[in-house]
Amino acid sequence: MMDSVHLRFAVLLATTLCSFTLSAQHRILSQISTPPSAAPSSPPPVFSVLSYGAVGDGVADDTQSFKMAWDAACQADNPAVILVPRHYTFMIQSAIFSGPCRNGLTFQIDGSMLAPEGPDSWPKNNSKRQWLVFYRIDGMSMQGSGLIDGRGQKWWDLPCKPHRGVNGTALPGPCDSPVALRFFWSSNLIVKGMKIKNSPQFHFRFDSCHHVHIDSLYIKAPSSSPNTDGIHVENTNNVNIYNSVIANGDDCVSIGAGTFNVDIRNITCGPGHGISIGSLGPRNTRACVTNITVRDSVIKHSDNGVRIKTWQGGYGAVSQVSYSNIVMESVRNPIMIDQYYCSSKSCANQTAAVYISGVSYSGIKGTYDVRSPAMHLACSDAVPCTNLTVTDVELLPAQGQRMVDPYCWNAYGDVADFTIPPLFCLIQGNPLTLPATDLDRC
Ligand SMILES: *[C@@H]1O[C@H](CO)[C@@H](O)[C@H](O)[C@H]1NC(C)=O
Ligand SMILES: *[C@@H]1O[C@H](CO)[C@@H](O)[C@H](O)[C@H]1NC(C)=O
Ligand SMILES: *[C@@H]1O[C@H](CO)[C@@H](O)[C@H](O)[C@H]1NC(C)=O
Ligand SMILES: *[C@@H]1O[C@H](CO)[C@@H](O)[C@H](O)[C@H]1NC(C)=O
Ligand SMILES: *[C@@H]1O[C@H](CO)[C@@H](O)[C@H](O)[C@H]1NC(C)=O
Ligand SMILES: *[C@@H]1O[C@H](CO)[C@@H](O)[C@H](O)[C@H]1NC(C)=O
Repeated sequence: MMDSVHLRFAVLLATTLCSFTLSAQHRILSQISTPPSAAPSSPPPVFSVLSYGAVGDGVADDTQSFKMAWDAACQADNPAVILVPRHYTFMIQSAIFSGPCRNGLTFQIDGSMLAPEGPDSWPKNNSKRQWLVFYRIDGMSMQGSGLIDGRGQKWWDLPCKPHRGVNGTALPGPCDSPVALRFFWSSNLIVKGMKIKNSPQFHFRFDSCHHVHIDSLYIKAPSSSPNTDGIHVENTNNVNIYNSVIANGDDCVSIGAGTFNVDIRNITCGPGHGISIGSLGPRNTRACVTNITVRDSVIKHSDNGVRIKTWQGGYGAVSQVSYSNIVMESVRNPIMIDQYYCSSKSCANQTAAVYISGVSYSGIKGTYDVRSPAMHLACSDAVPCTNLTVTDVELLPAQGQRMVDPYCWNAYGDVADFTIPPLFCLIQGNPLTLPATDLDRC
């Protein structure tokens, strides 16, 4: 299913390139033999939301105009542009933009897009789990210099959110909050240039997508805002996240089950909770994550740096993960594996675990917040982590002279050279035996 969709896009791309070459040739020939005529290729059709009645005063509900512009562009004979013009602010309700479309699309966001303000303004019959949804799209570039504002404050203030109650408890009550931009079952996506702020929940969620290129995004929410992950991907593959700046109240990037081939480069994270793989394996589920690269990035004032977190009792494996050339500034737990992740404080010990192997850390430098160790490798009691490689790590206390010893549990691998602080607790080599109980390597 996905493959045939993908193939169709490739064919479409090839046809487009081909006709471009032909028309270029045609132009050269006509210059020689005949007087100049009108250019054979016309610019892409532009569908401005203003042409469909959008007001753009930040108050009027412009949802229907966006949907009409989408439908027209989606059905256009040529790759079309949906234009959200600059100098306007469009308030739009939760909306699903569905494909498949006849051609690729450009969603050009130069103006501002605003969510309804809080749960009370959310239409009763709309899902409270998502705001803008893109579904079954093959080939879309979402770009521009505009701003997408999720107006999350009233959602973050719901009593059910963590730490709203006395002594850090959460109170009962409705708790769903919308993801700002959700891409579902889509492929060949480019998202670049815009600013996104204050999502009620995750800012971006890519779910069952492939070939996603993210570039030059600026994502911002307060450090106290709950669950406002910057970019979340799951069941998704071939993802690039480049040149972006993310400051929020949860993970900068979070990578969920079923994700492979992710390349993260030149991103600046923080404040927030760092770059996470997980949490994987909740409620005894299976997770496979492989081939994840994070390099040339900065993580600052964060609760974690690069973290892999799994629940006890899960299945599957995390492998081929590489973290290199990462600067840490005042980060708690810059390097962390936590196979005892538990958000409810009442997790029983279990004998199954997601198997973690082949994780390399190299060129991780900077400072750590001494409330926690610079390196924390807490692997499962039942299934050790193997083939962890550590080279060129230099992490100093952000304040004072006191170093905190790294923590390891059941962690095997190789320290190629002396690290600061020294990592004596990593067990050199491989464990003599791995649990015989059919270890699921994915
Ligand atoms: C919600 O109700 C409004 C007004 O009755 C209607 O226009 C809209 O289509 C409904 N939306 C959904 C998702 O059912
Ligand atoms: C909150 O914590 C304080 C101090 O530990 C305690 O005296 C109080 O009973 C707690 N309140 C509730 C509602 O748990
Ligand atoms: C890294 O990303 C930042 C922020 O988008 C950008 O300004 C800078 O040019 C990028 N650096 C490289 C080497 O691409
Ligand atoms: C790993 O992912 C990258 C893209 O990030 C891809 O180019 C490479 O081929 C993948 N490697 C393997 C072994 O699949
Ligand atoms: C889980 O195992 C650890 C280490 O063996 C032990 O300290 C802890 O009490 C156990 N927890 C439960 C809930 O059994
Ligand atoms: C160990 O991990 C590295 C990458 O981190 C990989 O190249 C190598 O094949 C792995 N070795 C084993 C024995 O799994």
